Amino acid sequence: MDNLTIDGKRLWDSLMEMARIGATAKGGVCRLALTDLDLESRRLFTRWCEEAGCSVSFDAMGNIFACRPGRNPELPPVMAGSHLDSQPTGGKFDGAYGVLAGLEVIRSLNDHGVETEAPLELAVWTNEEGSRFAPSMIGSAAFAGAYDLDFAHRCADIDGKTIGEELARIGYLGEGCGGRPVGAYFEAHIEQGPILEAEGKTIGVVTGAQAQRWYEITLTGQESHAGPTPMARRKDALVGAAAVVTAVNRIGQDFQPGACSTVGMMEVRPNSRNVIPGEVFLTVDFRHPDDGRLAEMDEELRGVLETVAKDAKLAFEIEQVMLVEAVPFEESCVAAVRNGAERYDHAWREIVSGAGHDAIYMAQVAPAAMIFVPCEDGISHNEIENATPEDLAAGCEVLLHAVLEKAGAR
Ligand code: GLV
Ligand code: MN
Ligand code: MN
Repeated sequence: MDNLTIDGKRLWDSLMEMARIGATAKGGVCRLALTDLDLESRRLFTRWCEEAGCSVSFDAMGNIFACRPGRNPELPPVMAGSHLDSQPTGGKFDGAYGVLAGLEVIRSLNDHGVETEAPLELAVWTNEEGSRFAPSMIGSAAFAGAYDLDFAHRCADIDGKTIGEELARIGYLGEGCGGRPVGAYFEAHIEQGPILEAEGKTIGVVTGAQAQRWYEITLTGQESHAGPTPMARRKDALVGAAAVVTAVNRIGQDFQPGACSTVGMMEVRPNSRNVIPGEVFLTVDFRHPDDGRLAEMDEELRGVLETVAKDAKLAFEIEQVMLVEAVPFEESCVAAVRNGAERYDHAWREIVSGAGHDAIYMAQVAPAAMIFVPCEDGISHNEIENATPEDLAAGCEVLLHAVLEKAGAR
């Protein structure tokens, strides 16, 4: 079959229309998981899929599946997907691109009157970002059986609202989750880093993703008056937290090449300017392409906490709330992505994902791979996140090829 075309303008227009839901003043998107804005994006997605002739359903995690039948209903579906939730200061493309590139594949197949052998499914995974509810990627993880539904439904946001309650509130608490065969899974995404842009490559053929660990840490000292309390008598939890932040950054530097380390969230209690902070809650995000090196970073962090707590006269608790091992993607799916880049004549290179993606969990239950396209200055998780219509269309062409290679078409 000749190379099929996709409609890059229709893809771009759909991205821009989706980005109006939760649009921020600086040109980004704030569409936290299971909020009313998330619901609005789900409704728009569902309408578009139904207009494209798909039947749409959702499961007990609120993961949405839009199905385009194949010639052989006995075959497991070939899936494409990503997420529609965003960071609080998110961009227009993180997640939405993979979802709408998948939709553009289906729309294009409709335009060309192409039937596939295997059914196609477009997936929207719940709470990929992990910003409102930790752990991240929990919808796809539950689908893959990595978390049980009870655990997933009990995960709560900072106000104590749980995933289960919020799914019920927005009408997306379906039945069942996963436990069915998937023929292959592909996810298109912006790179969220600087490599493709710097090397002038249009397509990242993603061979795997690095390992991650997330932690929640509470340091406890003693609240007391900022005026009369002498320096020597203080148990200042924020002073301890400052040392932890510095140490986390140092660990990231010590474990080069490859390590990333971030404290992204902190709560100072009681957060009053003339009270010595009695308690600090903070999060740590550690990543490394090598599971063993990440385990060493874990040991370092625990050692740092012991020392800091002793020096600042604090108690501490640490909970590891997520462990994702390094994932190699499946060779024949990676090859399908590479073949797509070759066939459509796009400059490509192999790349390992620095970010977490639903494909990481789907790789546990199906052959999976990803397609990256460049983003401006490598910036993501930022309202200024940007990508060119041409690169986004190129990634969509590669997705189309990979899906057809795995689903079979005539
Ligand atoms: C998901 O956005 C991640 O944290 O990598
Ligand atoms: Mn994403
Ligand atoms: Mn993200």
